[in-house]
Amino acid sequence: MAVQVNGFFHEGTGTISYIVVDNERRHAVIIDSVLDFDLSSGEVSAEFADKQLAFLRDNKLQLDWILDTHAHADHLSAANYLRTKTSVKTVIGEGIKIVEDHFAKTFNHESQSTHLYQAFDRLLTEGETLDFGSASLQGMSTPGHTSDSQSYVIEDNIFVGDTLFMPDGGTARCDFPGGDAGLLWDSISRIHQLPAHYKIWVCHDYQPQGRELRYQTTVGESRSSNIHVNSQMDKAQYVALRNTRDKTLAVPKLLYPSLQVNLQSGVLPEPESNGMRYIKIPLTDNTH
Ligand SMILES: [Fe+2]
Repeated sequence: MAVQVNGFFHEGTGTISYIVVDNERRHAVIIDSVLDFDLSSGEVSAEFADKQLAFLRDNKLQLDWILDTHAHADHLSAANYLRTKTSVKTVIGEGIKIVEDHFAKTFNHESQSTHLYQAFDRLLTEGETLDFGSASLQGMSTPGHTSDSQSYVIEDNIFVGDTLFMPDGGTARCDFPGGDAGLLWDSISRIHQLPAHYKIWVCHDYQPQGRELRYQTTVGESRSSNIHVNSQMDKAQYVALRNTRDKTLAVPKLLYPSLQVNLQSGVLPEPESNGMRYIKIPLTDNTH
């Protein structure tokens, strides 16, 4: 089978979500879908995810899995919304447990291991495969940007989440809890060992220097021309560069809303007694 990859660009967050289609059997998976969220008004909606559902319907595709490459810190995942609409299972890498343990403390969730760990239907481990149409997809654990970062290999395509950007975008920050530039280097090195023709599909493109949107490169191109990880660079140099750069970056605007929701596979916080749902922002009190 040769799968067909369809990228859906979410403009508000610069995210590319994918619907991968097995044309032979008309099966599909969704990777990294997004809920629309307006921070100022608190409005959450699903226009973007609904477009993807319409695509599945119009093309008579059977959805097999709803996948996330990690708990994103810059957008709300539509995984649970899609699960509710389709009854299809959600999947993320097993490293999510580490992220959940950390942020459960930040948000003062009860020690929930059981509750939180069950937010996703499947936690995939390194090398584990899932049936997908007439083929399969394989999880490849690629920590570094976050401890739960997981890439998905389908035939000669690899969906890397934020483990790599396009060659001119370099790599993602590693300063979130559990992030580690050395681990990211190792994960990217593993991806770069795949055959040169393998297609890399990234989760974000911020269009450096105002160039047109691009979200697919190849292992060969990434290996030779990624501005952060390439043959001119060694691990120590990369770690120093990444860490220096990360110190200059602001906290993402949607960090707390995203993690609160994404740790729960995109389930919104329970309504309070007045029927309203709320997002918590932990405060650091520097007034004294
Ligand atoms: Fe990310």
